[in-house]
Amino acid sequence: MSQNIQTLQKEDRVFHPSPEFSARAHVKSMEEYEELYKRSIEDPEAWWSSQASKLVWQRPWDTVLDWSNAPFAQWFLGGKINASENCLDRHVREGHGDRVAIHWVGEPGDTRSLTYADLLRETSRFANALKARGIKAGDRVLIYMPMVPEAAIAMLACARIGAIHSVVFGGFSASSIKDRLEDSEATAIITADGGWRRGSVVPLKANVDEALAAGCSVDTVFVLNRCGNEVTMVEGRDLWWSDAIDGVSDDCPAEGFDSEHPLFILYTSGSTGKPKGVLHATGGFLTGAYSTFYYIFDHQPDDIFWCTADVGWVTGHSYIVYGPMSCGATQIMYEGAPNTPDWGRFWEIIEEYKVTVFYTAPTAIRAFIKAGDSFIDQHDLSSLRLLGSVGEPINPEAWMWYREKIGGGRCPIVDTWWQTETGTIMISPIPGATPTIPGTATRPFFGIDAAVLSADGNECGPNEGGMLVIRKPWPSMLRTIYKDPERFKKTYWGEYEGIYVAGDGSRVDPSGNFWIVGRLDDVLNVSGHRLGTAEIESALVSHSAVAEAAVVGRPDDLKGQAVVAFVTLKAGYQHGPELAKELKIHVGHEIGAIARPDDIRFSQLLPKTRSGKIMRRLLKEIVSKGEVHGDTSTLEDFTALAALQKED
Ligand code: WT7
Repeated sequence: MSQNIQTLQKEDRVFHPSPEFSARAHVKSMEEYEELYKRSIEDPEAWWSSQASKLVWQRPWDTVLDWSNAPFAQWFLGGKINASENCLDRHVREGHGDRVAIHWVGEPGDTRSLTYADLLRETSRFANALKARGIKAGDRVLIYMPMVPEAAIAMLACARIGAIHSVVFGGFSASSIKDRLEDSEATAIITADGGWRRGSVVPLKANVDEALAAGCSVDTVFVLNRCGNEVTMVEGRDLWWSDAIDGVSDDCPAEGFDSEHPLFILYTSGSTGKPKGVLHATGGFLTGAYSTFYYIFDHQPDDIFWCTADVGWVTGHSYIVYGPMSCGATQIMYEGAPNTPDWGRFWEIIEEYKVTVFYTAPTAIRAFIKAGDSFIDQHDLSSLRLLGSVGEPINPEAWMWYREKIGGGRCPIVDTWWQTETGTIMISPIPGATPTIPGTATRPFFGIDAAVLSADGNECGPNEGGMLVIRKPWPSMLRTIYKDPERFKKTYWGEYEGIYVAGDGSRVDPSGNFWIVGRLDDVLNVSGHRLGTAEIESALVSHSAVAEAAVVGRPDDLKGQAVVAFVTLKAGYQHGPELAKELKIHVGHEIGAIARPDDIRFSQLLPKTRSGKIMRRLLKEIVSKGEVHGDTSTLEDFTALAALQKED
């Protein structure tokens, strides 16, 4: 049978939620979704205030939305709120102090379960420890932690006192920490001696020391004792977490902050070399996290939720900390790798804790498929009722496998499209209502006016590809790029007046389902994480042997995209496997292991236009197809291209 027909058949498969699932769900039918969606789009302010009012506010807001200074939105003006109070105190006050908030599993097999009362106590003590070191509202605090409950405690402690947290993924390098410190001008860092990953200790504190060696604004480093690996403590600057909270009061009243008070900065890649500090505001972000978690994961009080992301990514912010915890959910937090000690680890955890809702990434799903079904077959996954996916488009084969093998054919799948910038999920099925089709994130969430526009600004017709945009502001939208409002305007709002441009290509099918096709800018998606090609290029060029570099993505079965770097060397340097290896390590050191190129290709010349712009389009064709078929009429020097094709 031809490939085409097969593809069509796949796209035709429609899965409806079971009547049992729908009967218990918050939204029970597509009619109900349509009705709610219609109302939410006709009057978004009414919809979002209905959601915000489910949170605890210390002072009610006067104005739902001020969009007069677009694209700088302000939500729930006049309102005062504390995110930590909403995630902790509220549940304890309502009599749920004994409910488990986090069942934690360490990679070596150690476990802890913390109730909401435990989390409140530990957060309050640590918040007091922050205050004791002079940290106050508005100060930036960098968090560089393994996946342990203290990572969430550190975030909530910052939120409690109004300090702005900036979590740096534990897989990033010293030099990434340094860049983020310089931009955020953080005065404190919260880290650990190390964290477990695939049986080894990641030396987190040593990385922090390396980042701080050049000197900077930091005057306090809190160090959690996790692995017991050797660390150097700098007198007066560094203190152990346990010492910092020793004898400290567990009463730290949660002060109400302005709704627009910044909650966190999270750095993400863009199409230039400099990471963007995406800034989120308290009231709006929490409203989005609460509402999307409640509806999209159809949160029920007896659920055991598990999001496998790291707190260092936005997914961890929204769907480990602020979404689940503002809803008072019980969740799993796992420290380590999915294949340690073997590929059965996740399924073992699901069986043991009777996980009901499981949220992971397509790249992980593809790795599980590759590892083989034997790791799954030994485990009872019948507790699962709902599955989720995030980070990149999920291929229909992986979707079907996820549905059958993990979901036993009975669990709806929510393929959730969103970004660091959007803060929370924008496009996704509502599991008790939306018919799902493998490969589409389906329909916009309530209050989200998503559309696909062509270059001339008109709405695309059915199945016509264009730019994915959001036409109305929403509460969890980023407020700006930290210290760079011009870049914020230019990157997201430069194309059309008052319309947010996501940077993804998409089409809408005749039933209104959004099919995301991937990034339109020079940004790669490696294992569900965004990496700017320019960032990797500047890491390469910082090596003494490299004259020029161009990085492109190559389709990859496991990672979605693999990183391929074309490199020209300075005079006097010899190319070869040794140098290729050295450059890969260098990029790992400059950014982190996830950015390490899979292939380095040395060449004498790179294909450029007459104005000197590297023609990435041609490089992309070379790495994906082995040769160039596209238009080469603007190419300056054909010998460059010929040489690259020959090397292939
Ligand atoms: C980019 C955002 C959102 C948390 C994880 C990544 C891609 C994300 C999907 C999806 C197709 C997706 C987009 C987006 N993406 N989810 N369900 N289907 N593509 O956050 O690092 O800010 O990356 O990830 O390209 O723009 P991020």
